[in-house]
Amino acid sequence: MDRIRIEGGHPLEGVIDISGAKNAALPLMAAGLLTDERLVLENVADLADLTTMAALLTQHGIAVEPEQKRCLSLGGAITNTEAPYDIVRKMRASILVLGPLLARKRVARVSLPGGCAIGTRPVDLHLKGFEAMGARISLDGGYIQAEAPNGLQGAEIMFPFVSVGATENLLLAASLAEGQTVLVNAAREPEISDLIACLTAMGADIAGVGTDRLVVNGVGALHGARHRILPDRIETGTYACAAAITGGSVLLRGARAVDLGAVLAALAQAGVVIEEQAEGIRVSRRNGLHGTDAMTEPFPGFATDMQAQFMTLMAVADGASMITETIFENRFMHVPELNRMGARINVHGASAIVRGVPSLSGAPVMATDLRASFSLVLAGLAAKGETVVNRVYHLDRGYEAVEAKLAGCGAVIERF
Ligand code: EPZ
Repeated sequence: MDRIRIEGGHPLEGVIDISGAKNAALPLMAAGLLTDERLVLENVADLADLTTMAALLTQHGIAVEPEQKRCLSLGGAITNTEAPYDIVRKMRASILVLGPLLARKRVARVSLPGGCAIGTRPVDLHLKGFEAMGARISLDGGYIQAEAPNGLQGAEIMFPFVSVGATENLLLAASLAEGQTVLVNAAREPEISDLIACLTAMGADIAGVGTDRLVVNGVGALHGARHRILPDRIETGTYACAAAITGGSVLLRGARAVDLGAVLAALAQAGVVIEEQAEGIRVSRRNGLHGTDAMTEPFPGFATDMQAQFMTLMAVADGASMITETIFENRFMHVPELNRMGARINVHGASAIVRGVPSLSGAPVMATDLRASFSLVLAGLAAKGETVVNRVYHLDRGYEAVEAKLAGCGAVIERF
């Protein structure tokens, strides 16, 4: 199993190219099931999760082929409506094929995703939404069996709380349903707007983009399109923390500040200098870091996918910060590992109190999930001495070319 070794204490200086967003690419690839025609996605990152989604689509009958560098072409008829356990257990986002399969084939059998390291993460909102649209859902042998013999019908669906995945799944399905679907309290993440842009290019009729009320008028068929995936805002925020924690200055080429929401304000409050430039965002730190509170919330609030990385930054800030996680119930697994490196963090329920320390010290640590893994890499970049991060396969699910990007800016880092 691969590990990453980091020698800390080298300020990052240079340019990091921001890749296409993983969490936009996953629903966009699922949109390939909505038409037999060719959907070409540009700016696709080379990530393990996207390879998993490609494998899932392939076994549904869709040809997924690289068109040119960073471009994927999807096309072909659906030949199989079952998403098997072996693929779904690797990646929860596999559930996003359920909406398109139901809309196109009126039947789908998708393995029920289990819990995951960051929480129980049920899919009840997805299923209730499809039921409201006329589907019959049952559970059979660990599989969701969904049927809509008369096709999906438009409905008004009010989410009791914001879910990115449920909003995406229902948008995908509603695009081909009969009549109008209204999604109330929908997620407003930039990845949702990106999905709407692609669906619209495919011929869908969706109003309300960027708001929490989306109105979808179903159409009879969708056609092929070409769509460029937006830059990854979580990768952007993560490398912003890397520049900041090492006291360096890095141009995040291709990044968009507007997609960072409250993360941008929190970084600025902590003393990180962020400048928007023609090519992207420059992130630098010239002075000390100040303890800054953060509470995770749906977009435009502070992203839960940035919580672990921001906590590492606060671990070496002057003063204390309180970091509250409201989206997932078990997303503090990085805390004991950071404490092994000398951080002073206590967890009380959904909040972590971080008392800044002057420096961290290198240690062997264990990655537990994707974002937590990078929080340990950040700690290693700032720490005195050597850090070895174990179980880096978590990192490869969602960060492209980590060592190359960091080493290109002067980090001393290797995989072994
Ligand atoms: C997406 O997951 C992201 N994944 C996650 O990123 C991200 O952390 C999350 O949104 C929140 O921003 C992808 O986009 C592929 P949710 P998703 O439905 O859609 C509960 C990363 O590191 N819930 O918005 O699964 C759920 O348990 C990953 O890249 C239900 O109870 O998240 C959670 O507590 C990790 N029932 C909350 O809602 C449901 O039916 C928000 O989940 C659906 C969700």
